[in-house]
Amino acid sequence: MIPETETFVTHLECSDTGKHYAADTIHNLSDTGMPLLVRYDLDAVAKALPRDHLAARDPDMWRYRELLPVRHAGNIVSLGETQTPIISCPKLAVALGADPDVLMVKDEGRLPTGSFKARGLVMAVSMAKELGITRIAMPTAGNAGAALAAYCSRAGIESYIFCPDDTPEINIRETSLQGGKVYRVNGLINDCGKIVGEGKEIMGWFDFSTLKEPYRIEGKKTMGLELAEQLNWELPDVIFYPTGGGTGLIGMWKAFEEMEAIGWIGAQRPRMVAVQSEGCAPIVRAYEEGSKHAKFWENAETIAAGIRVPVAIGDFLILNAIRESGGFAIAVPDCEIMAARAQIGSIEGLHIGPEGAATVAAYKRALESGLLKANESVVLFNCGSGLKYEMPDQSRVIDVNDPDKYSKL
Ligand SMILES: Cc1ncc(COP(=O)(O)O)c(C=O)c1O
Repeated sequence: MIPETETFVTHLECSDTGKHYAADTIHNLSDTGMPLLVRYDLDAVAKALPRDHLAARDPDMWRYRELLPVRHAGNIVSLGETQTPIISCPKLAVALGADPDVLMVKDEGRLPTGSFKARGLVMAVSMAKELGITRIAMPTAGNAGAALAAYCSRAGIESYIFCPDDTPEINIRETSLQGGKVYRVNGLINDCGKIVGEGKEIMGWFDFSTLKEPYRIEGKKTMGLELAEQLNWELPDVIFYPTGGGTGLIGMWKAFEEMEAIGWIGAQRPRMVAVQSEGCAPIVRAYEEGSKHAKFWENAETIAAGIRVPVAIGDFLILNAIRESGGFAIAVPDCEIMAARAQIGSIEGLHIGPEGAATVAAYKRALESGLLKANESVVLFNCGSGLKYEMPDQSRVIDVNDPDKYSKL
């Protein structure tokens, strides 16, 4: 049971103009078409939840209830959003030329539905329940659809999910199995988004596209809260994040700001690094060109399906966080992503997905190019379980009756 606690949301705020919007009513974007951010009475949160109170709470994301938007615990549609481990990778660090004690992976693949999408969607669906929404639609690269379906089924909300037609089969099937009405679309995620946006009137659904509702960020924010707590309130020097729509990176950046405001951490921030694939790198291009917004990426293609996002509505928020933190954006080719996935699996025994592997490849490149020093502490985010993705077939056969079998191993 998640305990009832006092809540502190004061209003929502346009992430671009700062205009205020009422809490506790249904919103998508601001009047100017920008994402809305949830704001809290942080002075009151600081009094209600000193950080040493956390020790007595359950090891899940609801331990930060005072910094989250759901008013009534009864509306939380939890599937057990456990804390995810931070796994040190000393052998990989040394193999890549870094100090042995600097490299860590936060493995989000352990969450319900096998990805960090659970954090955002448990929050957004719980808020949808609280606000009386009964039908939801979403475009997705795969993992978000699975999480949406699962939490909607639990909440008694109908879910319609639209994926690019080459979305990994497992994502389609898990989504369907968890009660979502899932469709393959002959286009990219932005085409799926068009179906959702244009179908609002006729289908009467609520648009759950990335950042088009205010609460997924609040769920993803818990990655930043949890990271700080697990590292004993000392953030790492650098965070590498596989960036598609960027909700996680934006959410963590918001978490750091709120934690400083309530006195849980100081002013030190990690350098935030957005990692993309060379086949779809709109944020990297915008970062390199010094632009506020990213341009649409034509013919997006990468094996890392979760970061194949040719246009992101929160692009300016991602770019702000990178620049304010003194971080950078970096693209890696698919061949390096695959090699990195095999390397971390075989050296550290850690099975991560291609999006997470992109951060390993980017870490290697950053070390080689001098963007990063060998002694800087680094957290790489693996946001989905490796088990959801295709694996290279390296099976071998042996004949039980072969007298020479041991010489052939
Ligand atoms: C496994 C995985 N990693 C990373 C991402 C990108 O996340 P974000 O939208 O927060 O940039 C996704 C999104 O689908 C994903 O599924």
